[in-house]
Amino acid sequence: MKRIGVLTGGGDAPGLNAAIKALVVRAERENFAVVGLARGWEGLLEEGKDDNILLDSELVRRWDREGGTALGSSRTNPFAFKQGDKKTDRSAEVVRNMEQLALDALVVMGGEDTLGVGNRLSKTGVPIVGVPKTIDKDLSATDYTIGFDTALHNNTTIIEWCRTPAGSHHWVQVVEVMGRHAGHLAFWSGVAGGADIILIPEIKFDYQKLFELLHQHMERHPHGMKRVARYAVVVVSEGVAASDGGIVTLDGSLDSFGHVKLGGVGKVISDAIRKHTRYDSRHVVPGYAQRGGAPSPVDRCMGFLFGTAAVGAVLQKRWGMMVSAKGVAPACELSLVPIDQAVEKLNLLDVNLYYDAERYNVKRNYFLEPRI
Ligand code: F6P
Repeated sequence: MKRIGVLTGGGDAPGLNAAIKALVVRAERENFAVVGLARGWEGLLEEGKDDNILLDSELVRRWDREGGTALGSSRTNPFAFKQGDKKTDRSAEVVRNMEQLALDALVVMGGEDTLGVGNRLSKTGVPIVGVPKTIDKDLSATDYTIGFDTALHNNTTIIEWCRTPAGSHHWVQVVEVMGRHAGHLAFWSGVAGGADIILIPEIKFDYQKLFELLHQHMERHPHGMKRVARYAVVVVSEGVAASDGGIVTLDGSLDSFGHVKLGGVGKVISDAIRKHTRYDSRHVVPGYAQRGGAPSPVDRCMGFLFGTAAVGAVLQKRWGMMVSAKGVAPACELSLVPIDQAVEKLNLLDVNLYYDAERYNVKRNYFLEPRI
């Protein structure tokens, strides 16, 4: 019986378990066995290989309802494995372990880094198929990446919850959301949650302009309640930078793919608002909770579609290809694209189409004059 290995790497994302379940169910139908690899690429290194398990449809029966990834995840880079300050290329060990596990194919569910490793390996002849996953939605060559919809929903809920105390106390509520390089999450959760200002990594922002926009907003009193200031909600992406400054990092440390860990810009902006305007301000960082909870219906369905299609790609031996979506379920068409195309450049928010860099918000005419 032929065997497929499946791994999930990078930040976890709701919908991955649905993709794994669909893969296992279809693989069984096609008479393939499936090995679930533990903690991303670690499952194909000494450190993880004892934790790998055989998956069957009975075992994964309820997985689709759960968030995260039941296989575990890590940011392991076998081409530059980090041990202290040293980096070692352990990609040959990955190939050896695939042989030992008798894997005829490997399905890699990940974002730019995990798929980037898969892409490099596939160029050396390793039989790999990719599935796009990241709450940031910043992979190219696909309209959808697993996890985005749930994170969007979570963030919109958090923005809405923040509105109530901000409204009662008349402060500027800053909400810092994820999105390392791309503003999709910040922008669309900001639009859905009715944010007054949205700051995204694609466009550097100017503090004076931010203060001026806040002033214009806070001093507008459409209901005649002039005695009190209004409140405002500012959604900022963790990767945003001011025109006269850089990004704000957690502690300057890098992960094994060389990314600096982000975090803290929400507090910096909130402090600046308190210091340089007459408005009080608070900040909230939902952090990993954004990726938490059960997957949304869209993420479950996209997981089912991607997982099933990945087995189809294996059957056709379309190595080095990634499952890609045109549109999102229920209006979704699938195809296969080279993993190369997905990872060669990041898919950023189309600012020309959506973003008004003068108002730091959605373009007014985007909704008022939809293009037909
Ligand atoms: O890549 C997905 C993501 O959620 C990014 O938005 C974020 O920068 C990152 O993961 C945070 O995860 P970690 O702390 O593991 O780097």
